[in-house]
This record gives sequence, structure tokens and C-alpha cells, in this order.
Amino acid sequence: MRDQIVAGNWKMNKDFDPGLLLVEEIQKMMSEESPGATKVVVASPFIHLARISEMASQSDALYVAAQNCHPESAGAYTGEISAPMLKSIGVEYVIIGHSERREYFKESHELLARKVKAVLDQDLIPIFCCGEPLAVRESEQQGVFVNQQLSDSLFHLNPESVRQLVIAYEPIWAIGTGKTASSAQAQEMHASIRQHLAEQYGKEIANEVPILYGGSCKPTNAEEVFSGPDVDGGLIGGASLNASDFMAIVRSL
Ligand code: PGA
Repeated sequence: MRDQIVAGNWKMNKDFDPGLLLVEEIQKMMSEESPGATKVVVASPFIHLARISEMASQSDALYVAAQNCHPESAGAYTGEISAPMLKSIGVEYVIIGHSERREYFKESHELLARKVKAVLDQDLIPIFCCGEPLAVRESEQQGVFVNQQLSDSLFHLNPESVRQLVIAYEPIWAIGTGKTASSAQAQEMHASIRQHLAEQYGKEIANEVPILYGGSCKPTNAEEVFSGPDVDGGLIGGASLNASDFMAIVRSL
């Protein structure tokens, strides 16, 4: 059985104290109503990670993610954070290749391939993001586009590493726009991603990789979006900044 995961991507939101308060609220709700087998992941800004990691060590189902890291393990890279540094404070997941990083920070496929490897080298789990822009969806090339993203940044990995991955399918036209993919659109793309993995690494490995949906997931649409058999959870932006909304999404998985 694949992991079922709901991950909250706070992006560049929440100062220090409000961030810790949000995690306290999430933990309180989790203790009142067990999230069952679902793994709940919080991807906060770097400033919170060490503290959240301490908090998460007290609860079984809560995990900590960084939103980015540098591909080198140490050195003269002013302002950057490495995968070994994240490992040293107990971080477990690292989001790699979010569309905002690809767009605003010009992260290339090649750079993302190196980052994925750096994360795996520390036994951390990459949450690798892929997804097409609106123009690609309108020309019905989303399958080809996303397959290329996977080939370019993941297919240098050996099969054992691929088993460790989490993939997040996030159509760019749905991120922060209030437009969500329908459950049929999400399922179609998740199945296509799994098929592409299977062609490269075999069905058994492809079936082990959790594929999360991201893009305007809310309490009102989460159950519908998560209903497809290849949809193993969600990567949640805006709605993860409020504990009640985030936990309602966890519940709908
Ligand atoms: P959103 O963001 O839920 O605010 O659309 C999702 C994401 O970017 O991961």
C-alpha cells in the first residue's frame, strides 16, 4: 500500500510565532481525531524547521518538510541551505521543483535532477513537483509535457531511489487560482505519470510511488479530487495556512 500524504506548503508565509501556533493547532486536532494512516507533512519556511521538527518528534503522524535545498552539501553558497543541514535538524521531506521555483528562480531540469539526488543521498524524501502551464493544457500536450519533466529530472536515478520518491502533480493553471483540476483530470494525469514511471522502472516500483495532487485544493473540493485510485493525497498551499481547513482536507483523504 502506498503512503497516503497530505502536505501543507506554507510558501513564504507565517512569521515565527504564528507558524509555531499553527503547528500547535494542527497537533491538537490530530490528537483529538487520529488522522489514521495518513501522513501529515508541514513544509514551513526554513526559520521554523528546527522547532517544528522537535514538536513533530512527539507525534507519530506529523512530518516536517523543507521547501527547497541546494544541490551541494556545503561550501561558498551564500544564503543557501544544504540537504545535510536539513537532515541534521530532523527534516524528513524536501519539496523540489515547485513551479514557483522553476519560474521565479529559473530552476532548470538539470539543477532539479541534482537537487533530487542531493536529497536522496541524505535519505530524505523528495516531493518532486511537476505540472503544465495553461497554454500546454489548452493544446492538450499536458501528458507529454509532464513526462518530459519526469524524464529530465528523475530518470538518472536508480530503481531503489525511485522507490523513495513522492511526486506532486500540480497543474500551474490551478495553483493559487481557485481553479482545481476535476477528479477525472487529476486521475488521468496521475495514471499517466505512473505509466511513465512503469515504462522506465517497471510496474512494481511505479505502484509504490505516492502521487499527490496540488492546486487550489480546499475542504470543499478535496474529497472529490482525492477520489481517483492513483491520487494518493495532496500538496496544499493556501488552505494549509489555516489549521481547520488543513485538517478538513486531511480528513477527506
Ligand atoms: P494552492 O498551492 O493550494 O494555494 O493552489 C498549491 C501549491 O502551490 O503547492
